[in-house]
Amino acid sequence: MNVIIVKDRAEGGKKGFEVFENAYRNGAQVFGLATGSTPVTTYEQLTKSDLDFSQMTSVNLDEYVGLAPDHPQSYHYFMQKHLFDQKPFAQSYVPDGLNSDAAAEMKRYDQIIADNPIDLQILGLGQNGHIGFNEPGTDPALGTHKVALTESTIKANSRFFDNEAEVPRYAYSMGIASILKSKHILLEAYGPEKAAAVKAMIEGPVTTDVPASFLQRHDQVTIIIDEAAASQLS
Ligand code: F6R
Repeated sequence: MNVIIVKDRAEGGKKGFEVFENAYRNGAQVFGLATGSTPVTTYEQLTKSDLDFSQMTSVNLDEYVGLAPDHPQSYHYFMQKHLFDQKPFAQSYVPDGLNSDAAAEMKRYDQIIADNPIDLQILGLGQNGHIGFNEPGTDPALGTHKVALTESTIKANSRFFDNEAEVPRYAYSMGIASILKSKHILLEAYGPEKAAAVKAMIEGPVTTDVPASFLQRHDQVTIIIDEAAASQLS
């Protein structure tokens, strides 16, 4: 793991952009994308840049089950607002939260990932060590699957909704196995609330209790964290 410690998320966004730019200049065609607050500063840098994604493909990690693409809290909507409106890709894939046939959606999305091998996957990190919506205890061999969100994730995500009751209880997510197939992985984490998960991810054992710890098994991982998120590292 290549761990880069920055002052704050603004500086992290610039470093994250450099990783994107490097991949882009080295011929990356498929970019795996995340939502949440973490990658926003990197996306800001991308939108301001001269990088052209109009011939490229993006594949998002996850989507809430039950939210339409135009719901303001859907991950479709988030991507549109923070990146795609300014930097359109030739093809952008996000799991279909409105597909109530979970088995069909899982199969469809796994096929998309198989047909579009991801060159660079960007990740955030949950306070409980989740990546994508792979919560603690998730079987690392799973591909795309339907997830029941944990109470801690529902609480953390409720800040984006009017109240906690409105937070969807399920999501479709790429699996840990799908994520580990990416050629290069970039994980960003900022703030003191991520410090324990960062320590467990980097210095702890590889365990299903900390899904991000499986990144230790990948040989091309860049971790960008601010000083607060790095504060528990030895
Ligand atoms: C989002 C995702 C999640 C977030 C994580 C951190 O697509 O897959 O794993 O990356 O929950 O969220 P933020 O960045 O809001 O702290």
